[in-house]
Amino acid sequence: MVVRGSEYAKEVRCVKISPSIMTCDFSRLDRAVAAADGWNVDRLHLDVMDGVFVPNLSFGPPVIASLRPLTALPFDVHLMVQEPSKLLEAYVKAGADMITIHAECSSPLEETLRRIREAGCKVGLSLNPDTPVEVLWPYLPLLDMVLVMTVQPGFGGQSFRPECLPKITAIRAECDRRGLDIDIQVDGGVKDTNVREVAAAGATSVVMGSALYNAADPTALITLTHSL
Ligand code: DX5
Ligand code: ZN
Repeated sequence: MVVRGSEYAKEVRCVKISPSIMTCDFSRLDRAVAAADGWNVDRLHLDVMDGVFVPNLSFGPPVIASLRPLTALPFDVHLMVQEPSKLLEAYVKAGADMITIHAECSSPLEETLRRIREAGCKVGLSLNPDTPVEVLWPYLPLLDMVLVMTVQPGFGGQSFRPECLPKITAIRAECDRRGLDIDIQVDGGVKDTNVREVAAAGATSVVMGSALYNAADPTALITLTHSL
């Protein structure tokens, strides 16, 4: 079968999906992981909250380690913690494949990002909605992924903040200008009614928690997202 250029381009450029289990029943996380494992998705988003950086606590390395045998999906670990440098090795050992820290945390950013890479994980840096994109610029060469928050971090199921869309466009433009192939992932309130805009702004992957886990037909949302 001949794959036409445009079809091939679409196949390799489609928006990737990282389901977040944050709004799932924590007493049955195995079911949440099994559901994601059965969907045609690209990675699993694990939201780590320390009760300091954000006003909520979720889970840490032991829970991540217990989920690791349940799926082969890459673990996309989003650290909403004040001092990510402290437990970095524990997340790696627990099975993280990608680790994202926040630009607003207290750990030294460059050193912590380098340690993530040295540990063999993909490296992500995230921005809260109110943090300007320029904060990222010095770190772009160290990154595999930028995570653009489109809600204030701390809770799943919040409403998408459309005023964050220009940040996605600005990051895409800066990466293109510098010739950097960095994944731009968007996290917070992404669903069927805004995923087209998110992709059009320049996102290459999206986190979807409540939109997927509460969907009557998650497959339709996955197919739509992968078509963008
Ligand atoms: C928010 C988390 C998000 C969130 C995603 O602090 O980082 O990953 O739980 O959930 P939805 O898609 O429901 O906003
Ligand atoms: Zn997240």
